[in-house]
Amino acid sequence: MIRFAILTISDKAAAGLREDASGPALASFVQAYGTVCHMAVLPDEQARIEQALRTLCDQDRADVILTTGGTGFAPRDVTPEATAAVCTRMAPGLGEAMRAASLAITPHAVLSRAIAGIRQRSVIINLPGSPKAAIECIRVIAGTFTHMVETLRGQAYECGR
Ligand code: MTE
Repeated sequence: MIRFAILTISDKAAAGLREDASGPALASFVQAYGTVCHMAVLPDEQARIEQALRTLCDQDRADVILTTGGTGFAPRDVTPEATAAVCTRMAPGLGEAMRAASLAITPHAVLSRAIAGIRQRSVIINLPGSPKAAIECIRVIAGTFTHMVETLRGQAYECGR
């Protein structure tokens, strides 16, 4: 069973000025792949995001941590920086695949700075902030979740053979 955590990164949602639609949309999507063990809404504050990511990786042991929001060019968009700060190994293929597929939908896909990486036995994956964009992106990589988590846990070897 894959354990997912979902972090919505949005100043407005964290302040109660906007409803968080992306977190629930992602939670509904990943039900088909595992269970959601944690959901939270955080402001675009790098230290707060890093702290939440470290706790999820080091103590809560979520397998897949999805962030939504804060990947763009706005001055307060720092989700990729927080992700890079806590990861020990990067996983560029996930962001590359999501951006490539998203380009067929919108030229604005190139404005997502989303990255992905590994800390301990958890993978952190950035997704854009709108529910539509987040679901468009997660659809691209969802087929890899099972093998991704097997390899993270050290349960899959020699998978190229
Ligand atoms: N990717 C997909 N698949 N669909 C979209 O509509 N929107 C883009 C991009 N990626 C989009 C997308 C836009 S307009 C922006 S600004 C960036 O994601 C960053 O979004 P964020 O700042 O909400 O994280």
